[in-house]
Amino acid sequence: MKEYMKADKVTDNIYWVGAVDWAIRDFHGYTTERGTTYNAFLIMDEKITLIDTVKGPFRDEMFARIESITPLDSIDYIISNHAEMDHSGALPETIERVKPEKVFASTMGGKALKAHFGNDFEIETVKTGETLSIGKNTLTFVETRLLHWPDSMITYVDGAKTLFTQDGFGMHLAGSNLFADDYSEEILEWEARKYYANILMPYSTKITQLLDSLPGLNLDIEYMLPDHGPVWKGEKNISWILGLYRKWAEQPPTKKAVVVYDTMWQSTEKMARAVAGGLSDAGITDIEVVHLGARDRSSLATLVLNAGALLVGSPTINNNIFPRVADSMTYLRGLRPNNLIGAAFGSYGWSGEAVKQLNEYLTATGVELVNEGFRVQYVPNEEDLNKCHAMGVEVGKALLEKVNNWNS
Ligand code: FEO
Repeated sequence: MKEYMKADKVTDNIYWVGAVDWAIRDFHGYTTERGTTYNAFLIMDEKITLIDTVKGPFRDEMFARIESITPLDSIDYIISNHAEMDHSGALPETIERVKPEKVFASTMGGKALKAHFGNDFEIETVKTGETLSIGKNTLTFVETRLLHWPDSMITYVDGAKTLFTQDGFGMHLAGSNLFADDYSEEILEWEARKYYANILMPYSTKITQLLDSLPGLNLDIEYMLPDHGPVWKGEKNISWILGLYRKWAEQPPTKKAVVVYDTMWQSTEKMARAVAGGLSDAGITDIEVVHLGARDRSSLATLVLNAGALLVGSPTINNNIFPRVADSMTYLRGLRPNNLIGAAFGSYGWSGEAVKQLNEYLTATGVELVNEGFRVQYVPNEEDLNKCHAMGVEVGKALLEKVNNWNS
């Protein structure tokens, strides 16, 4: 339990000394409806070692938690596994107050910290496989470039059998408990999936490479400690999250379809419902119909990660797609989901560019188009809705065939 301004014990000699951000709801465009934590950890050994820091405004919370077990100036080493501001924002002041003997980061981390802070403090750079003895424990560094920044690295502590994974295997989940066991599996799965979809999905190939390389590193892992959310303890929890990462990195096509739309005068909404009806009649049983006025882009990305089909609807407004659809499609294009099929639809008044533009977005996102899309002037009549239904059936059948081929 994270007591007020106190360190929380992870293992005999490792303490959580991070901060809980209960209030954050927008993490650079990612909706964090459960807040987050910025995890920093202290290893109490002959060389007292701090792993990462916290977002700048939370520095005093971290300092107080550290001081609940040891004076700030007793820290010897600081390891910066990741230079992004939510973990390094408090680093310059931490260095100023701690005056550590050494600060370590990857080669790219050293450059990134310099670029962020123009620092005059020395960074000792480390490469994959390099080790650092801190007394009873030895740290081993593994660079994980572009997971998810060029500087990212993970650090293994042998005596404690602990892997510090920075953003990897984390989630935005504020809470008073430290261990994943103390949260429901449903919340853990959703928040870990949301984190993967919104932060790590573009780097899925590198996730697979990392997962493939782990056995060869011969790490005996009893704890995985990410920089956000609860920590993973024990074989069952660690296998569970590693298995989910394996699946998300592969993104096999599933019998799940997402129909996402925005609407002006409910014409595109009627089309979306008819499309969803067609998917259902084709045999797709897991369908999410997402109105972008009701759900945000980061929840959409989370749904898409588990989907096999993405169908997008937008009215045309001033020769363009609707703003919220443009927002979400731009966002998804950057996240680069894999193995999706899809189609576009929408209503229009006189020029009707939206479906063509949606096709371009979907193609740029890597979505295989099942047809050329369907548009309706002003208000769909019964025949138009039948055509939308037929589009749903066509995509549904194509999806079932794709899933069967994938699994055969
Ligand atoms: Fe949690 Fe990439 O920072």
